[in-house]
Amino acid sequence: MSSVVVLGAQWGDEGKGKIVDYLAQKADAVVRYSGGSNAGHTVVVNNINYKLRLLPSGVLFNDKTNVLGNGVVINPGVVLAEIAGMKEKGIDCSNLVISDRAHVVLPYHQRLDELQEEALGNHKIGTTKGGIGPCYMDKVARVGIRICDLMEPETFADKLKVNLEAKNAIITKIYGAEPFDYDTVLKEYLAYAEELRPYVADTGVVMDELFSAGKNVLFEGAQATFLDIDHGTYPYVTSSNPTAGNACTGSGVGPRFIDHVVGVVKAYTTRVGEGPFITELLDTDGPGNQIRETGHEYGTVTGRPRRCGWLDAFMLRYSARLNSLDYLAITRLDILDQMPKIKMCVGYKIGDEVLKRIPASLNVLAKVEPIFEEFDGWMTDISGIRNYDELPENAKKYLAKISDVSGVELGIISVGPNREQTIVLKELL
Ligand code: GDP
Ligand code: IMO
Ligand code: MG
Repeated sequence: MSSVVVLGAQWGDEGKGKIVDYLAQKADAVVRYSGGSNAGHTVVVNNINYKLRLLPSGVLFNDKTNVLGNGVVINPGVVLAEIAGMKEKGIDCSNLVISDRAHVVLPYHQRLDELQEEALGNHKIGTTKGGIGPCYMDKVARVGIRICDLMEPETFADKLKVNLEAKNAIITKIYGAEPFDYDTVLKEYLAYAEELRPYVADTGVVMDELFSAGKNVLFEGAQATFLDIDHGTYPYVTSSNPTAGNACTGSGVGPRFIDHVVGVVKAYTTRVGEGPFITELLDTDGPGNQIRETGHEYGTVTGRPRRCGWLDAFMLRYSARLNSLDYLAITRLDILDQMPKIKMCVGYKIGDEVLKRIPASLNVLAKVEPIFEEFDGWMTDISGIRNYDELPENAKKYLAKISDVSGVELGIISVGPNREQTIVLKELL
């Protein structure tokens, strides 16, 4: 038995889907423990692009258990549409299990997400507007509706009535927007309930059975370390804990079951939405733009252009500590193939003072300047390389520095979106 947490070490979209799919070849189960349809994970197999939002990235194999844990917020319409989309592509999702304790995203969550963002104006977070934050707000406020409630029509009808009254008051009186009609929402969700019913289970028990049977389990992080509600660049974060600790809480297993934690790292940095970004490149015809265009850095869910910048290896050191990372999976190294010079941030400074940590205060963070090291590029197409030794020397130097500054061993190097475009330095399962 072995279990591996795979999570984002930066601000998301690092290629978690690709790495999870790769590792899933030797796993028995893939478990999502946080986030919801704000995630957009891409898996490419035989040049077919699968975009997954709620479905775990193990669904492309028909012999793996795929779990949506209690820490995930479920938008029934989205997950059912994904299941239907997979069916059209000949992929069967009957091995999906959804936690009876997961919270349900309702239409008023989505509407409130939009209204809150509009009201924030210049201070907006830049959310995916999927209702994720408002759903987690209800969970913490202990008024949320769980999957187990949705499975009981009378309980659901009751809870929906109370919630809708409260939310409609906010929507109409505070935001002056249109209220939701109770009967319409009730009808829509009771129909979802029947479609979801076959997938619903006590996933904590499912996890226990997997571990008791000695199975290999992958935990698939969504979002990323610096979008973590506690450890990220608050308030420009998501409303859950993508960090490794939540792999346990969000799926109902104890910490002794975790063997390895892999931090997925893009070979540069991107961020979608607002918030600090120390190594951001703001040029329109320089390296920032080159990375965006070469890497097609546009959001999987929203299509928004991603903000691009050099790799911040100082952040990775922080990520390593927060998540107990023992291996890095570096992705998209190939996107840097044609960069003559590549920079990496190896530390932070304010004036002449070199910082030992990342400041919590955004006001202080705004004064931070990156300490860059410059590397010669390799100016070679590496996408066909499958063996570490065959990588150009300059690429190896760049990788070694990432490992050195972060303090974490390299486990996987990804040189393309396809499953086979993967260089393995450490077998984890
Ligand atoms: P996730 O949210 O962390 O799963 O990442 P996304 O799927 O949002 O974004 C990563 C993008 O990079 C996807 O389009 C992947 O297919 C792609 N990708 C992953 N690894 C590599 C790689 O090594 N090279 C290239 N060129 N693309 C990659
Ligand atoms: P994956 O799993 C990148 C960002 C949003 C916004 C902030 C809050 O594909 O890496 P939310 O809708 O969660 O309340 O938005 O978090 N964000 C992501 N950015 N990748 C993601 O997921 C993200 N999920 C949320 O852009 O800045
Ligand atoms: Mg993504």
